[in-house]
Amino acid sequence: MREIYFDNAATTRPFEQVVQAMVRCLTEEYGNPSSLHRKGIQAENILKESRKTVAEALKADPSEILFTSGGTEANNTAIRGIARSYSNRGRHIISTRAEHPSVQMTLEDLKKDGFEVSYIDVDCYGVVDLDKLAQAVQKDTILVTLMAVNNETGCIQPLELIGKLVREKNPLTFFHADCIQAFMKIPLDVGKTGPQLISISAHKFHGPKGIGALYCKKGINLRPWQTGGGQEMGLRSGTENLPGIAGMGKAVEVFSSHFSEYTAKMAELKQRIREGIEKSIDDIRINTPEGDSGAPHILSVSFRGVKGEVLLHALEKHGIYISTGSACSSKQIKAAGVPEVIGLSKEEAEGTVRISLCPFNSIDEADILVDALVTEVGFLRRISGR
Ligand SMILES: Cc1ncc(COP(=O)(O)O)c(C=O)c1O
Repeated sequence: MREIYFDNAATTRPFEQVVQAMVRCLTEEYGNPSSLHRKGIQAENILKESRKTVAEALKADPSEILFTSGGTEANNTAIRGIARSYSNRGRHIISTRAEHPSVQMTLEDLKKDGFEVSYIDVDCYGVVDLDKLAQAVQKDTILVTLMAVNNETGCIQPLELIGKLVREKNPLTFFHADCIQAFMKIPLDVGKTGPQLISISAHKFHGPKGIGALYCKKGINLRPWQTGGGQEMGLRSGTENLPGIAGMGKAVEVFSSHFSEYTAKMAELKQRIREGIEKSIDDIRINTPEGDSGAPHILSVSFRGVKGEVLLHALEKHGIYISTGSACSSKQIKAAGVPEVIGLSKEEAEGTVRISLCPFNSIDEADILVDALVTEVGFLRRISGR
């Protein structure tokens, strides 16, 4: 059966060039970048090259890029690093309840160590309330941490404006952005007013899993939470994951060189699917903002009277992969997290699915998806007597 993959916010298929770059590091360039001989130097050159590529994509300096094991570690390193290094200035952190668990659980953990966390309200798409955010910044606020593109709704936070507001209120407050769904999907430039810390993860843009990076602006002093041989500027000890790093560098290189084409293609397909659903299926709620206010690759839709997980498996029979938008446990589907905070009813939360695109999805696939949704949503509603 033909497979149609619309779960690209969960993970993406690596580019062929990424696989080749990784295989090269596993078969030929397998040296340790810390070794003094030629093999080590060749490996070190690959490491340097990838760091430069990632830095260029963010318009940062290579010395500001720290490789991590992925987005979760980048978020932890940023948040825990600031908390550990700057607790003498204050113990107050600001965020929202629409963040990824790698942020929310980290903040909840820090609360056990005496940090205070203010969660600011978000609107029906997940965009933070700017007035409340500005009001919440106090003298003892050491960090504001927000997700640049929401992984469930695709809404975009106005990063530059937030950075400006935060610094006006307290120039010593750091701003961290989880850009894991944003990097390679919307333009990111570590300008003067934007975030000073940015997390990214390679498997979201056709790179390998288990590798990511943290941009940390020069001058910020993060206290490492992993000690050892002092790799990665002393911030992350341990022999570097060279195949992963090479793969990530290659993914950035390939995606960056097609950025406008790829993002336009995803946005066009997203709009086609959105219009197809709106035209053919009633009793729905779209949780993704219109046009450029949403990232090009995420569309969240709540089908009232349908269970998202049941719909997901019904589409699987057509060879189509999507994901649910609400937290599920094996026995019970319950509204939790983002659906709750953006104001979805229990029925809407349970009926939410996320369709997420990549540049290699086609118009044909988009139309097949809409047709399958029309069939399956209609069928599921009929059998539930709705
Ligand atoms: C917004 C966001 N933050 C963090 C993560 C975690 O990234 P990783 O899977 O690389 O640990 C994800 C992954 O789904 C994400 O979407």
